Amino acid sequence: MSTGPELAIIIPTYNEAANIPILIARLESTLRGINWEVLVVDDDSPDGTAAIVRSLGQQDARVRVVQRIGRRGLSSACIEGMLATTAPYVAVMDADLQHDETLLPQMLAQLRGSKLDVVVGSRYVAGGGVADWEARRAQMSRLATRISQWLIHADLRDPMSGFFMLRAEVLQHCVHRLSGVGFKILLDLFASHPRPLRFVELPYQFRPRQAGHSKLDYAVLWDYLVMLLQKLVGSWIPARFIGFSLIGGSGVGVHLLVLWGLHRALGMSFIIGHSIATLVAMTTNFWLNNLLTYRDQRLSGRAWWRGWLSFVAACSIGAIANVGVARYLFQADSLWMLSALAGIVVGAVWNYAVTAVYTWNKADHV
Ligand code: GDD
Ligand code: MN
Repeated sequence: MSTGPELAIIIPTYNEAANIPILIARLESTLRGINWEVLVVDDDSPDGTAAIVRSLGQQDARVRVVQRIGRRGLSSACIEGMLATTAPYVAVMDADLQHDETLLPQMLAQLRGSKLDVVVGSRYVAGGGVADWEARRAQMSRLATRISQWLIHADLRDPMSGFFMLRAEVLQHCVHRLSGVGFKILLDLFASHPRPLRFVELPYQFRPRQAGHSKLDYAVLWDYLVMLLQKLVGSWIPARFIGFSLIGGSGVGVHLLVLWGLHRALGMSFIIGHSIATLVAMTTNFWLNNLLTYRDQRLSGRAWWRGWLSFVAACSIGAIANVGVARYLFQADSLWMLSALAGIVVGAVWNYAVTAVYTWNKADHV
């Protein structure tokens, strides 16, 4: 008989010190008779969540913690947690007691001895629901749900669910293709798996959060958009590069607007207006990238200014490379649009690669 765990529960946490002991106590009673383990993946929460899990682990060896340093992200935390277990069945759930842990034994029963890949805890099948949600949040959720159903071509009623259980092989088949950005890990799995996944949805009532507050904000919506785009263009382009390029595109708008204001409206000379517009656009690009693309290692205070300086320096060289490549190609065969596009791509890749390393200081993003 095997002695390893049959079921692993992966719990991503950021500042859940007040909730995690309650959840683990509930799991211990709900999962009686099952050979389980819990893996809490904590992004170095300032409230000391990881230390609390460690002390719980000292009382129960089935409780483990992975503490990530200098990292943020719900999806990537779930992926790393799922990869850190040997259990053949893996569940993901939130720490804040919004997911109904009493559903877990049923989910496991569905997977065992069947051909199913995934069992999804669903708010949008009969019997499920979202109690006490503000209208705006409910609307946002419905819209995101509709977009994602179109993306994955599966009749999954709740593709945004953060509560599900799967066979470990399912993850292993698609882990290299996952985008791992943002909150939408289930959607990512469905969209990345080489064949359509066999699933069932079990209803549950999404409960109000117990303590602390939600981390779902506008930056999470941005991540969602970037992930959708990445699934459309293909996973060979890094998600961060897509976000970076979108923001770069917005910089063109900023540039033209500032130039119009200074040159046309205020009568400043074109070249001075153009130079100021360039600097302003670089600054808004830096600001947005720091807020969104690199929010997991956001710079602030003095580091913000140092980052800004290196960003402007890198992008200035990028601009020279851009113009150089475009001019060279244009001289060779005067296809103006192709030359310009090649210049833009070279400049963008340069800016992305250099700022990933020097501005946000992480060699492993490139
Ligand atoms: N490790 C880690 N890193 N965990 C995180 C991070 C992070 O950057 N951000 C959030 N978490 C953890 C929280 O501590 C919590 O346990 C869980 O992920 C969900 O985060 P919430 O902030 O509570 O999200 P929510 O309740 O707004 O969203 C939930 O419901 C959505 C459906 O409406 C999540 O389950 C979403 O995945 C789900 O789509
Ligand atoms: Mn929550």
